[in-house]
Amino acid sequence: MYNKVIAVQDIPAFRSRSEEFFPLEWYKRMLHDHPVYYHEATDTWNVFRYEDVKQVLSNHQLFSSEGERSAIAVGAKNKEGGIPDKINLTLKDPPESTRRRSLISAAFTPRALDNWEPRIRQIANKLVEDMKPDGPIDLVQTLSAPLPSMVMADLFGVPTDDSVLFKNWVDILFQPLEKGSEQETELRKMSAAKQYYEYLYPIVVRKRTDPADDIISDLLKVDIEGERFSDDEVVRTTMLLLGAGVETTSHMMASLFYSLLHDDPQLFGQMREDPGLVPQTVEEMLRYRFHISKRDRTVKQDTDALGVEMKKGDVVIAWMSAGNMDEQMFANPFTLDIHRGNSKKHLTFGNGPHFCLGGPLARLELNIALTAFLQRFSRIEPVAFDLEKSLVMSAPGQSLTRLPMRAVQ
Ligand code: HEM
Repeated sequence: MYNKVIAVQDIPAFRSRSEEFFPLEWYKRMLHDHPVYYHEATDTWNVFRYEDVKQVLSNHQLFSSEGERSAIAVGAKNKEGGIPDKINLTLKDPPESTRRRSLISAAFTPRALDNWEPRIRQIANKLVEDMKPDGPIDLVQTLSAPLPSMVMADLFGVPTDDSVLFKNWVDILFQPLEKGSEQETELRKMSAAKQYYEYLYPIVVRKRTDPADDIISDLLKVDIEGERFSDDEVVRTTMLLLGAGVETTSHMMASLFYSLLHDDPQLFGQMREDPGLVPQTVEEMLRYRFHISKRDRTVKQDTDALGVEMKKGDVVIAWMSAGNMDEQMFANPFTLDIHRGNSKKHLTFGNGPHFCLGGPLARLELNIALTAFLQRFSRIEPVAFDLEKSLVMSAPGQSLTRLPMRAVQ
């Protein structure tokens, strides 16, 4: 399952971290001049337009998730870090991926979401309560970095105090392989996977005999036509969920607050006056501020479905965040507008058979965190900082390591 990783970062060749953090100019150029683009060095096709991206993600008859090369590195190479076949849904096509997905989605029912809501609210309220009013605060350290891992720790049913350990393991396990330091990164990944495994396995074994209201217990109960998870598989499934759900949500939360401070300073006050605007703000932020979301597929048979000749075995990268900027789909796409009627059509959670399983959970976390913050603070003001020096490469792209602001009570 550990495919040859494609160096996707070489395709846009951004000149700075900040350009990659908000690559609208590049998207504009590609959408306009090179909507279907072959990149020689990585030997990949790249698509940017909304409909093309959607087709590549959803038409699994033509564009397969089962390929020899991939843009994502999942897990680690040792036995603790591997995702076993039964769970690995991301790199499989239907019907196999659908069957595997149904095993995991047993823990992601609407009923589960209802149960999780008060727990997430409690975590968000506590983090927001702990923030120092009026003085400078760092939104990343106080909210966007800790919240998603604390939520996952709580939903897994492990002690919240251990969520810092979680965050550290996740950061290492899903760190992209950068040229020149691949071997060193691999070793760190293997060590993190081993520590994580040794930590969680005894917890899973205990929950087998003493279940509670949490994701691990739900996964242990799954029985779909006789198919069940072993303790070992449950540990590995949690690893997959952490990889998919923690960094992505942290990244989005920090980017959302960055946008409130720097894109549209009126928006915070408008939401204070009308909290009903929160969900549509979250949705538009998912469209406008989640960069750079992309997924790869492998061409299953020779095709010209995207207007050029593609051969069986070719790799196509679908740039979802670019599709979110396609004017054929969104009017004035390069403008943040919470009142556009169709923000929810964004492709940030993907499309088709692999559509994000955790989308509803991510939305819930973002809505709850923003609401908790709005209830506590009446105003936010930016504090000068060097954006270029406050970004780091992460799985979702360039993520903020700090976001200083003043929050007035
Ligand atoms: C802002 C936050 C998030 C973003 C932007 C995001 C994005 C995505 C995208 C684009 C895919 C589709 C991959 C593809 O088409 O190959 C995906 C799949 C997935 N996501 Fe998320 N995700 C987020 C949060 C979460 C959370 C919180 C969880 C769960 C805890 C989660 C679990 C998953 C899983 C299990 C899959 C694999 C589904 C499959 O392959 O069938 N995600 N996510």
